[in-house]
Amino acid sequence: MKLIKSLTLGLIAASALTYSCGGGSTSETATTETAVTTPPPAAPVSLEEKYKDDPIFIAGQAKTKEAGCTACHMVERKIVGPSYADVAAKYESTPENIALLTKHVIEGHVGTWGEIAMTPHPQLAPADVEVMVKYVLLLKK
Ligand code: HEC
Repeated sequence: MKLIKSLTLGLIAASALTYSCGGGSTSETATTETAVTTPPPAAPVSLEEKYKDDPIFIAGQAKTKEAGCTACHMVERKIVGPSYADVAAKYESTPENIALLTKHVIEGHVGTWGEIAMTPHPQLAPADVEVMVKYVLLLKK
């Protein structure tokens, strides 16, 4: 009888301990949450904002809008085609790359960025497309 009594007491003590431990960890979590609440970092400047005064940007943006490139391309987000920022990250703005990409835009292209093809643009003058490609390759982060 004495043994059973002390056993029961022991169990009560053990469950009380477990309870207080649980309580302790709850308040610990609350402390951590408070510590994490730091002010949000300043919003990064968009590429459009960064290059808005550059003549290459101004000329190229107007031409890509006029030519309808914006239906498939955005500056910083992939839609049908890769984002201009991704293209700029892949290719240095060298005369060779400008010539290559001008050809791809005029003749159409597929396979570099996936299985969706860029439609050909034979109606565009190469000199105009070059202005657009220089603009695309300017958009580096
Ligand atoms: C019908 C949708 C569509 C239109 C319109 C379009 N593009 Fe594209 N563009 C794509 C796709 C899709 C790709 C990826 C092709 C690939 O994987 O080779 C691409 C790729 C590109 C590339 C990278 C090519 C390479 O070889 O890496 C450039 C530069 C580009 N487009 C510029 C333009 C310009 C400038 C215009 C406007 C004259 C334009 N695009 C219009 C869909 C389009």
